[in-house]
Amino acid sequence: MKTKVLLIALAISLIAGGAFAGTATINIDAAKKGVDVNPGMYGIFLEEINYGVDGGLYAEMLKNRAFEGNNPPEGGKGRFTSDPSGLPDWELVQTGAAKGAMFADTADPLNANTPHSLRLEVENASGGRIGVANLGYWGMNCEKGDKYSFSLCARCADGFTGPLTVTLEDDRGNATSKPVKIARIGSKWKQFKATIEGTATEHRARLVITAGSKGKVWLDFVSLMPAKTWHSLPLRTDIAQMIADIGPHFVRFPGGCVVEGYSIKDAYNWKNTIGPAEQRPEMWNAWDYRRTHGMGMYEYMRFIEEMKAQPLFVLFAGDTCIFRGSEHVAIEDMGWVIDNYMDYLEYAIGPASSKWGSIRAKAGHPKPFDEPMIGIGNETWTDQYWTNYPMIYKTIKDKYPDITTIACMEKEGVPIDMIDHHYYFSARWFMNTQVYDKRDRKLAPVYCGEVASPNDLTERGHNILAALAESTFMLNCEKNADVVRMLSYAPLVANADYKDAPWHGCINFDTYRVFGTPSYYAQKIFSTNTPSYTVASDVKLTVDKPETVPGALAVEFKKIVGQVKDLWVMKNDVGLGVKILDQPDGWKKKDGVWTAANGGALKYGDPAWEDYTASVKVKFDKIIDEKDNGFVLHFGQSDKMDCGLSIYGGGTKSQIYGCDNAYGEKPVSINDGGWHEVKVEIKGLHVRAWVDGELLHDITMRAINVFVVGSGIDEKTGEVVIKAVNSYPEPITGSISLAGLPKIGSEARITVMKGDSFAAKNTLDEPKKVAPVTSKMAISGPNFKYEFAPCSITVIRVKGK
Ligand code: AHR
Repeated sequence: MKTKVLLIALAISLIAGGAFAGTATINIDAAKKGVDVNPGMYGIFLEEINYGVDGGLYAEMLKNRAFEGNNPPEGGKGRFTSDPSGLPDWELVQTGAAKGAMFADTADPLNANTPHSLRLEVENASGGRIGVANLGYWGMNCEKGDKYSFSLCARCADGFTGPLTVTLEDDRGNATSKPVKIARIGSKWKQFKATIEGTATEHRARLVITAGSKGKVWLDFVSLMPAKTWHSLPLRTDIAQMIADIGPHFVRFPGGCVVEGYSIKDAYNWKNTIGPAEQRPEMWNAWDYRRTHGMGMYEYMRFIEEMKAQPLFVLFAGDTCIFRGSEHVAIEDMGWVIDNYMDYLEYAIGPASSKWGSIRAKAGHPKPFDEPMIGIGNETWTDQYWTNYPMIYKTIKDKYPDITTIACMEKEGVPIDMIDHHYYFSARWFMNTQVYDKRDRKLAPVYCGEVASPNDLTERGHNILAALAESTFMLNCEKNADVVRMLSYAPLVANADYKDAPWHGCINFDTYRVFGTPSYYAQKIFSTNTPSYTVASDVKLTVDKPETVPGALAVEFKKIVGQVKDLWVMKNDVGLGVKILDQPDGWKKKDGVWTAANGGALKYGDPAWEDYTASVKVKFDKIIDEKDNGFVLHFGQSDKMDCGLSIYGGGTKSQIYGCDNAYGEKPVSINDGGWHEVKVEIKGLHVRAWVDGELLHDITMRAINVFVVGSGIDEKTGEVVIKAVNSYPEPITGSISLAGLPKIGSEARITVMKGDSFAAKNTLDEPKKVAPVTSKMAISGPNFKYEFAPCSITVIRVKGK
């Protein structure tokens, strides 16, 4: 693993180039107003994904507390594996002469929404231990001296006299808490509560419940939470505080794909998530685990309220997830779908005397919550949306004309308050996009609801390169704040113990630790440094070493038997030689001609090479498969970077690609059994490619090294706010000139987040290696110098009146 990280770091630093000096002249004119920025521009998107809510933010420490964990997906879809015991996450504890067995039972359930319970049949309770253990979400954290709130529902029969003894213990069976006894269990379901106190610290503890007599005992809804939770809500303090620290202005929840579901049956229905936790039906989750709904509508709304953010509830719009095999609610059945919108609004902001408002009041909140925004579906990119959306929109607007709704798509003639755009793209894309510079201002304003750069180079969004890319994009969104009204990163949370997690997370944790990625801190920086409006800032950048595409070369046939010869590489008219770095099994050389039978890339050259011309002669002998075949002349090859001239479609089409970006396609013809010359020339980011002497491609690859500045005025503090992203791996010396301010403060408040390379990141062990640091710098007037650190995001605030 360490080696891989080092290789990535090496590759990424190679991409970044060598010795360098850069200067920037930054002219800011505070009198030249740009666009107003929505003060609530930055928020969060909190989805139940990656065991991030259940198994994370929601403070429940036990997994499968209600014994419904072996229920197959309600709609019959999803990656589900049945547990032969019927009781996943629970184990029988049996030692010495004590004897018994555990079963999943549906007889006489606690309530209809939790049909299964655990039946422990005890044959002999003496001479050892007989009971059950819950393994938690990859264990559970027990801290010496900390208290935990335990509860369970139980009933018994066949002479069971108890008691039950509950302890936390380590994997060797040593107790890490004081034992707690649950006595007087009767034949009817009853809830028991107790406080468990940790006597030793164990981060991977399990909860053990042992029986004190023979007979049968049934358990249901067994729960353990830290006694101290965030703001007295059932939330893990460290994770909830990390989220709150972003300073989100709104919270989009609970999804995402979760909202749409695999099927109509498991699509998110908020009515399943209210009332006493033990009465909330669990449901299969679009992310292939069960949602307990412990974090239900009330808990979401209270969490959002405590953070002083605005709720943005996304509801099912009648179509399930298009990536999971769409199902559509028939138009005549849309009633309940639309009711869910209207009933939610009544629940959130209706009077306590209304039907749904009274349920809110009963839960402890007689006063209405803050007015929410409403997402009409998530990624519901279906034709039926244009039937469903207008019905939902009209019904909402008829009763609540001022509620902001957010659509998944846009269409001429259809009223749209705001459109939700999602971006999971490469760092290069984010660094260079002009999508909002070019957007037609007559179209609806935009909410960038899901933004992250989680590709290979950014190590699933974990390193500072991802944060630099997203920050460059956010600066562009601020520049276009007349169009982009809101933005949130996605996904927010991930349990780091869930090694098969489908997605990355901005906030990662295990049972007792938590850390934010550099992207997390970027969100926080932008959320807490939003200007009221932008002002003109002009940057003149001079760099003495332009960005290059360093790397070795390779030739590769895909589903083709072929030959290559005359490989050469030149720099400044001097041959560099062709040293083979990797010769896969299928490649053989005879009389100067290489033959490839089994695919694989023949790698040559030097990973440190940059700015060269490379040529090779190619011959197709046999196309093995009509689909996905091709020949590639790779360049810029390193462990994590790959560029190339790709010839595909049976030798008829060609394209240059590089670092997750592809550039224009051109026709070519090399499948005639003869030799053809393929040549590329790389100078900086400029790449040209020829086939048989004809220039086919002449492109400039998107830069990864950018230096961007955005400035604005914070009217609340009277400061000019300068934000800069330096994604060069070297410092840039800035000469800043501030014009158009009535007065200038004598010091600048400077916040910087930087990394020692693009690969810099945080981990559970080093949670704040990359994190913003704030300092002060004296300035003596409107012109001052500041050195922007390599790989950094900087905010400079100066009093301007
Ligand atoms: O953020 C992860 C997923 O990405 C969201 O659930 C979905 O909206 C998008 O496809």
